[in-house]
Amino acid sequence: MSKIERTLIIIKPDAIQRHLAGEIIARFERKGFKLVAAKFMQISEDLARRHYAVHQDKPFFEAVVKYLSSSPSLVMVWEAEGIINMSRKIMGATFGYEAEPGTIRGDFSCSRGYNLVHGSDSPQSAEEEISLFFSPDEIVKYEFFDTVWLYGD
Ligand code: RTP
Ligand code: MG
Repeated sequence: MSKIERTLIIIKPDAIQRHLAGEIIARFERKGFKLVAAKFMQISEDLARRHYAVHQDKPFFEAVVKYLSSSPSLVMVWEAEGIINMSRKIMGATFGYEAEPGTIRGDFSCSRGYNLVHGSDSPQSAEEEISLFFSPDEIVKYEFFDTVWLYGD
């Protein structure tokens, strides 16, 4: 059994503008992931730069910063055993036109850059990204009553 992990999920500006927030949340919710923090906000250019700092030398950096700060996003922290890998699979490959059907990007995006959703790609980036958007007291602690039905014994 994997370790309990947290990941930063962002429902990006194109997903909010295209009325897909509920659809995307439903996929994580129905999988059994636990929502532990959420903030609806317009991400500033400065915060977008810090969030995607790992890409600062890439040719698409300015475009992705502009995209992420162009309109409001829904920024969330979700928790589950092994959530980092699972959520990346649920999101699908980076480019919408390459993502498999059945994934969020594969079902709803045809684009390269406009790919609806962000998910942390490692425990270390999850920790760094979560701390950019949330203070520790904004992460809500609670129990699901049906955990045994989600994970088995
Ligand atoms: P994300 O960080 O948003 O979850 O996406 P990802 O891991 O699947 O992809 P990543 O390589 O981290 O790229 C970050 C975001 O930059 C935009 N992008 N554009 N034009 C391009 O070649 C290009 N490559 C990446 C996408 O919006 C991608 O999600
Ligand atoms: Mg990434």
